[in-house]
Amino acid sequence: MCGIIGYIGGRQATPLLVGGLRKLEYRGYDSAGVSVFNNGTSKVVRCRGKLANLEAKLLEDPAPGTVGIGHTRWATHGRPSDENSHPHKVGPISVIHNGIIENHLQLRAELAASGSKFSSETDTEIFAHLVAREIKTAENLTLAVRRALAKVRGSYAFVVMSDHEPQTLVAAKNSSPLVIGLGENENFIASDVTAILAETRKVIFIEEGEIVTVTREAVAITDLEGKPVTRAPKTITWSAVQAEKGGFKHFMLKEIHEQPRAVADTLVGRVDLEHDDVLLDGVTLDVTKIKRIVFVACGTSYHASMVGEFMIEALARIPVEVEIASEFRYRDPIIGAGDLVIAVSQSGETLDTMEAVREAKKRGAQVLAISNVLESSIPRLADHAFYTHAGPEIGVASTKAFTTQLVAMALVAIYLGKRTKTLSNERARALLAELVQLPQKMRDIVEGGAQLQVLARRYGGAHGFLFLGRGSQYPIALEGALKLKEISYIHAEGYPAGEMKHGPIALIDENLPVVVLAPRGPFYEKVVSNLAEVRARQGKVLAIATKGDNEIGGHADDVVLVPDTALELQPILTVLPLQMLSYYVADGKGTDVDQPRNLAKSVTVE
Ligand code: M6R
Repeated sequence: MCGIIGYIGGRQATPLLVGGLRKLEYRGYDSAGVSVFNNGTSKVVRCRGKLANLEAKLLEDPAPGTVGIGHTRWATHGRPSDENSHPHKVGPISVIHNGIIENHLQLRAELAASGSKFSSETDTEIFAHLVAREIKTAENLTLAVRRALAKVRGSYAFVVMSDHEPQTLVAAKNSSPLVIGLGENENFIASDVTAILAETRKVIFIEEGEIVTVTREAVAITDLEGKPVTRAPKTITWSAVQAEKGGFKHFMLKEIHEQPRAVADTLVGRVDLEHDDVLLDGVTLDVTKIKRIVFVACGTSYHASMVGEFMIEALARIPVEVEIASEFRYRDPIIGAGDLVIAVSQSGETLDTMEAVREAKKRGAQVLAISNVLESSIPRLADHAFYTHAGPEIGVASTKAFTTQLVAMALVAIYLGKRTKTLSNERARALLAELVQLPQKMRDIVEGGAQLQVLARRYGGAHGFLFLGRGSQYPIALEGALKLKEISYIHAEGYPAGEMKHGPIALIDENLPVVVLAPRGPFYEKVVSNLAEVRARQGKVLAIATKGDNEIGGHADDVVLVPDTALELQPILTVLPLQMLSYYVADGKGTDVDQPRNLAKSVTVE
C-alpha cells in the first residue's frame, strides 16, 4: 500500500506532486520522492520518512519541470531507507509502484545474471530494470512497459516515465488502484481521487489489466494485448474528506471492504502450489528444536493468536499456549530454549507485547513476530519477522489487520505441519487451494452489507449482547464482542457456547440478542443445542452459519450465511459479518467510529 501520483502539463510539476502526496500520506509514510523531467533528463529527489522530509529536501534541492511522478511509500520489500524510496531510476526510466511483485526473487536473479546492478532491496527496482531493457528495442514507452509487464506476476499500479519520451507517462494496473484526472492541456495519474481533487473532478478509473498512455492532450487506454479500451470519464461529486476514505463513510468501513485485497496481498509469494508448501519470506524454523509455541499479544491480535493456537495444534501437533502480553511479562513466565514465542502485533509498537518479547528473549526463547508494519519495533526486536501486508490500518477498530493475521497464522501452521510431517501433501494442497479462494469468498460477504444494516437496526437498540462460539469460533465470539464494545459502547461478552449454562444463561431474556457462530463442522450439533437453550428462554438469536444450511433457520431469529471453507479457515469468514454488524450498530448510534472514545490505535504505554 503506497500512494502514487503523476503530472504532465504546462505547470510546475513538483508543487502539484507534493500537494497530491500530502493527500496520499494516509497510504504510507515510510519515505517519499519525486522524479521530474527537465532539460533532457529527470531528476530524482527522495528520502526516508514523512513527506515533510522530502519537502525540506526539495527546498534545498529543487526539481523544476512540467512532467513528473511522485510516491509515498509503505514499505513491503526492503526496509524504509533512502535507497529503497521511490522513484527508482534505471538508465532513462523512472518508476513508481504500489503493490507487490510476486516473482521478484526469480526476476532479480535473472536480471543479475544478465548484468543488471541493483541499488535497492525493492521489488520495484526490478520493474525499472525490465522496462530499461525493453526500451532498447521497443518503438515506444508503452510497448516497453507492456513487454515488461508480461514478465511480472503480482499486484501493481505502476507509473513509468522515460527521459527519451518525456511527453508521455505510462501507467498500468493490476489489483492496486489507479485513476486518471483530466484537465485542460494537462492530465494527472493517482492512486485515488483525493490526490487530484483540488485540480480536477473529471476522472477515469483504470480497470484490472489495463495500460494507460497519458500525454498533455490525451489519454489512451489499452488492455495488456494492446487492444484499445474506451471508457467515458466520470465526474466526482464526493467531498475531499469522503474521497480520502475511498467514498466510504468511515475508514473502518473502507478497511472492512479492503479485506479481500489485503488477504490476497498476504498470500502473494507465500503459496507454493508446486510443492504443496508455504514460503515464509526466507524465515526458516527448525521444528526439531520447537517443543512448544507461546503466543503473546494484546486485544484483537490476542484473539487472532487464539485462532492460531487451533490452527497450529490441528495441523502441526505442536503444543501451543496463548498469553495476554501484559500478564505474561509480569508473572515470571516459565519459558526458554525449546520455546518458539510468536508475538502478534498489527502496529509492531504495542509496549506490552514488546516487553513480553524482551522477556522471552532474555530467557532464551526464539521469537517470531507477525506484524503489519515493516521495520516496526517488535519485528526488529524478534529473531524472525513475517509481515501481513494489509496496508495501513487507520480505523482504531482492527479489521483487515485481524483477518490478515489469521491468514499469516494459517501459513505458519501449514509450514510447521509440513515439517513435523503431521500434515500430508494432499491436505496441505487442499488448504492452500482454500486459502487462495478466500479473497473471492470474503468479497461475497462484504458486498452483502445491506443485510447487516437491517440487522443492526433490528438489534442495535439492545443494552447488551452475548456472542457464543465453540472451538476456533470462540475467539471469533470474543472478537465480535470486542468490536461491538469499542465502537458502539454497548456492553458485550464473548463466551464458549458450552460455558453458557455455567453462568451467562442467567442474562438471557427477550431483550438480549445472542450472536451464535454456527458454521458447519464438528461442533455444529452442539451449537444448535445451545441455540435451543437460548430460545427456550426467549433470547433472540442471530446465527452466523454456512451457505446451504437449510436447518439453522428453524433455530434462529435471523441467519447470516457465509461461504463454506476448510474448518481451520472458517474464522476468517465468520468474523466478517460481526465486523459489519458492529460497524452498522455504531454508525446508527452516531459514535465516532474511526476514533472511539478513550482509545488509541497504538498502545505504546503500559
Ligand atoms: O498493534 P497491536 O496489534 O499490537 O494492537 C493490539 C491492540 O491494542 C489492538 O488490537 C486493539 O485491541 C484494537 N483496537 C482492537 O480493535
